[in-house]
This record gives sequence, C-alpha cells and structure tokens, in this order.
Amino acid sequence: MKSSEIRRRFIDFFEKRGHKIIKSASLISSDEKGVTNPTLFNTAGMQPLIPYLLGKPHPLGKRLADVQKCLRTIDIDDVGDETHATFFEMLGNWSLGDYFKKEAIEWSYEFLTSKEEGLGLDPSRLYVTVFEGDENAPRDDEAAKIWLDIFKANRVEGERVFFMSAETNWWEAGDSGPCGPDTEMYFDVKGFFNSKGISKQEFIEADSKNEVVEVWNDVFMQYEKRNGQITGKLEKPSVDTGAGLERLAMTLQGVDNIYDTDLFGTIMKTLENCTNFNLKSARIVADHLRASVFLISDGIIPFNTGRGYVLRRLIRRATLFSNKLGISDLSHTSLVDTVFDIYKDVYEEFNDDLKRSAIKEEISKEINNFKMTLDMGVRKFQHLIKSGIENISGQDAFMLFSSYGLPIDVTVDIAKERGLSVDKKGYEAEFKKHQETSRSGAEKKFKGGLADTSEKSLKYHTATHLLHQALIDVLGDEVRQKGSNITPERLRFDFTFGRKLTEDEKNEVESIVNEKISENLTVDKVVMPIDEAKKTGAKHFFGEKYGDSVSVYFIGEKLENAYSKEFCGGPHVNSTGDLGNFKITKEESVAQGIRRIKAILE
Ligand code: ALA
Repeated sequence: MKSSEIRRRFIDFFEKRGHKIIKSASLISSDEKGVTNPTLFNTAGMQPLIPYLLGKPHPLGKRLADVQKCLRTIDIDDVGDETHATFFEMLGNWSLGDYFKKEAIEWSYEFLTSKEEGLGLDPSRLYVTVFEGDENAPRDDEAAKIWLDIFKANRVEGERVFFMSAETNWWEAGDSGPCGPDTEMYFDVKGFFNSKGISKQEFIEADSKNEVVEVWNDVFMQYEKRNGQITGKLEKPSVDTGAGLERLAMTLQGVDNIYDTDLFGTIMKTLENCTNFNLKSARIVADHLRASVFLISDGIIPFNTGRGYVLRRLIRRATLFSNKLGISDLSHTSLVDTVFDIYKDVYEEFNDDLKRSAIKEEISKEINNFKMTLDMGVRKFQHLIKSGIENISGQDAFMLFSSYGLPIDVTVDIAKERGLSVDKKGYEAEFKKHQETSRSGAEKKFKGGLADTSEKSLKYHTATHLLHQALIDVLGDEVRQKGSNITPERLRFDFTFGRKLTEDEKNEVESIVNEKISENLTVDKVVMPIDEAKKTGAKHFFGEKYGDSVSVYFIGEKLENAYSKEFCGGPHVNSTGDLGNFKITKEESVAQGIRRIKAILE
C-alpha cells in the first residue's frame, strides 16, 4: 500500500467516526497564550494541540484527526538504522475530553487490521504494551482488559499484552504539559514469530532488534506536569494518538526499513549511483536533506543558534556524509527536486517552483559556506593533530566552531575517525562564557538604546517595539533583537535574519506598523516578578540576567492580548496614535545573519 493511500485511509476512517480533519501545523512549535511549548519544533502531532488537550475549547469540536509534520533530533545518532528519521509524518486522532480508552483502543485495532477500511494488518502479528504503574499513576488494567477483550473477540491467541514501565509507556512532551500513560502497538514486521504469541522477554529482545516495530501509540492524557512535577489531574481526560507514517509504510510495503519505502525510495535511488556508496551514509544524507527541505519550507534559515542551528547542523552533517559517498558537491545533485516530487501532491507548498528554487539556493549557500570553512577547519585540525595532541580540548573545539564554523558534533565525528576524543564539557563551558560576554556587551551598548528622552525619541522607541513584533509577524520567530539605537531623527534596529528582505516583506512590515499606529493603541507597563513576566511571553534577551522584578511594556488594551510585549526600562509615549507615518528607509546586512533596519516617522 502506497503512503498516499495510508494517509487517505487514516483520514477517511476517522472522518467517518465524527472527527474533523485539520491541516498539518508548521514544524515550528509555537507558544500559545499561557502555555509554553517546551520544544523548538513539533516533535509529535499533539504539540500544536497542547492548549486544547489542557481544556481550551477547539473551534472544530472535540474529535480531530490529522497528518502532522514532525521533527525529532533527539535520535539523530540512530538515523541510518532501519526505523529512525529526524523528519517524519505522524498520523493522529484526538479526543478533547470526549471518548476515552475504549473507543481509542478499539479504533486503533480496527484501523490497523480492517481490510476494507484500514490497513489490513494480520492481528496475530500484533503485540501491545500497557503501563505497569508507578508512584504517579496506577497500573492501567483498564487498557489491558480492553485489549484482552479485543483479541479474544477476534480469536487472536496467545500472550501479546505486556505491562511495561514509565520509561516506555508514559508520554509527555518535554517536562511540562498534558501527560499520561499510554498503550503502544507493535507489529512483527518480518513475520518471525508464530501466531500463538510470545513471552515478555522475547518481546523485549525482538524490540531491541527492530524485529517488532512500534507502529502506533495511544496516550491517555489525564495529568498536567510543570517543570517535571505532576501538578494535577486534567478536568477532562483526553486521547492523543500517534502513528508514524514511515513505519506504517515500511510495514505495509513489505520492506524491513523506512528508507526502502516510497517515502525515501527515489532519494535512495539517486544516491545509489555514488562512487563510494555505503548504506548508512546514504540514509543519513537522505534523511537530513529531506528534513532540511521541510525546515526551510517552514521558514527556518541556517543560523548559529536555536532552530537555525538545528538546520545548519543537518545540512552540514549531510554534506560531510555525502563526501563519504564520494559526492564532491551535494548542491549539484537533484536531491531537493526529488524531495519536492515525493511531496508535491501532499503539501501544497511543494507545488511552488519559486519556493523550490529558493530552497535549493538556501541549501547551496549553506553547503558552499560550509565547504569553505570546512577546508580551513580541517587544515587547522590537521595542524592540531600534527602538534601531537591526544585529544581536542574544549577551547580548541570552540575555536574550530567560532572561527571555522565546525559544529561540535562534526568535530566529534572527524576526531572519532582519527581516534581522538573531544572535551565536550569544556566546549560547552567555553560556549557559555562566550555567550555571556557577548550578551552583556550588547546589553550595555543597547539598553534602551535611546540617545535622549525627547518626545521624538520616545516616539521612535515605541515604534521600535512595533517594528520588532511586525518583523516577527512577517519573517517568523527566527527574528531576535540584536540591538537598537534611537535618535530624534530616526530609529535603527538590528536583528537576526539570514537574508535580504524582499520589497513585499518590507511593505508588509511597514503596513503592519502603520496599522497599529492608526489603531491608537495604549502603551502601558507592569512591574512584576521575573518568573511571571517570562510567562506572559514578553520578549527578552534569552539567558540575560535580569533583577527579581522587571517592567514589561505592552502595546494594546491589556497585557494578555497586547500586540507587543517586551521587557524594557522605557520610556515610551502613552499611545501609538500620534507617532506619524512609519517608513523604512534602509535595510542592510551588518554581519553574517544580522540585518539592520533604519526607519523614520514622517
Ligand atoms: N504523542 C504520542 C507520541 O508521539 C502519541 O507517541
């Protein structure tokens, strides 16, 4: 069964059972009001739905289903084996305080095994795990009983329901948010085992050898966690399910790894012709390049921190592993086109030729930058080795990163090949030291950023806050303030962003700021304890040391729904109405990855 057919059947199955179908959210996780998303990317289908799993009513009702784009880098070292990928699609159905364990489990079974409406998997090759209980929550006898009843009713014999610990059967995204016990479904992909069931010990061994593969997980969201502690029970328990499309495709296409499915097939074919083909490197290149295309498509650009760093790391790792395959320039391959071709009927953005060339260009730019620095870095590396060192110190690793752009894990990879170790802890300490120095420098220079407190400067200061938010609205949250400088004649605002803004983007930023000016929004401040202030979502310099209480300036009626919120010492005007007309006069680069906007109020 083709992957497109799996997606279609899943959606039809749950639509028929009263679920509204929602579109995949972007890969970039967002913080909803009052709820902090603990990860940089959506790592599971439930993440864009966290506020609703915690009780907020969803506009489309209590039953939802979708196919969500996800990115997980936690398993990046396993990529290249049979079942791991960084990017993947997750099929999910949700009950938001509606049905619970019985319906969820019965539908999972039905979808997996029904020949007419589902995937038609052989039930005698299915195994399931349920939560064995711990100090947080009791053993899930209810889920186990539902499974036993289902297997009995369908005459599926033998031992196949196993109680397992929280390590595998408790689900949460990060250490805060909705969470609860889960039940996981495994399929005997290779048909190794007899239909009479297996012992728990045999199951655990088979799992460790990828002979049985987890294909679906039903999570019963019953609790809320904050900072690793359960803080209470959810008023209405919910269901969150997730089935990895790549793994289902592998199961249904009779292959023993995700790279031989139709989701990767043509990418792997392109790589097969390389001069030094080896399977693991080819799989890593295929995975990382596919993930990079999706990330750029969702607005991320390569950068030295945050989400941009994850992308940079993926492209650079792909480049290194492509070198191992004998590819001298990854950007000269047709791999991006191949990724586009696989997904053009699934995601409408993959039908856009302009987007396709922009993504190719972004990837080539990063590959070329990396190649140049890599050549120099490798020479520096060789120099270090010749000097007789036995391992790479934290300082050297940091120097290779800051001066030659070698990410730490790339340094570790190269060092490993040469039998050297790297002091990673020392590297992290260097990194921290460096960040603190550069941040305090930036703060001193830019605190408030005002040359004086004339009426005109105050207007420019308020306009700067509007500009900051408008840039995030238009360009995405890769935008971070790097500095500002205000005189009675103009404002200057520096921010992280990897390319020149288009005319359309500049016009859009201008018109958003002017709209906010014409709405005559009030500018107000509240002083509050730092922890509370952070929870409001107000912008601030990450990692910066602030006092115990801070002032948050907000532009809008109330702090909760304000258009802009920032930690700021002021001063500002009282309302936006009399700022005048906002106009960008210049947009330029000031350093790699940093743009500068100059603007005036007319
Ligand atoms: N959120 C659950 C998972 O990702 C379904 O496994």
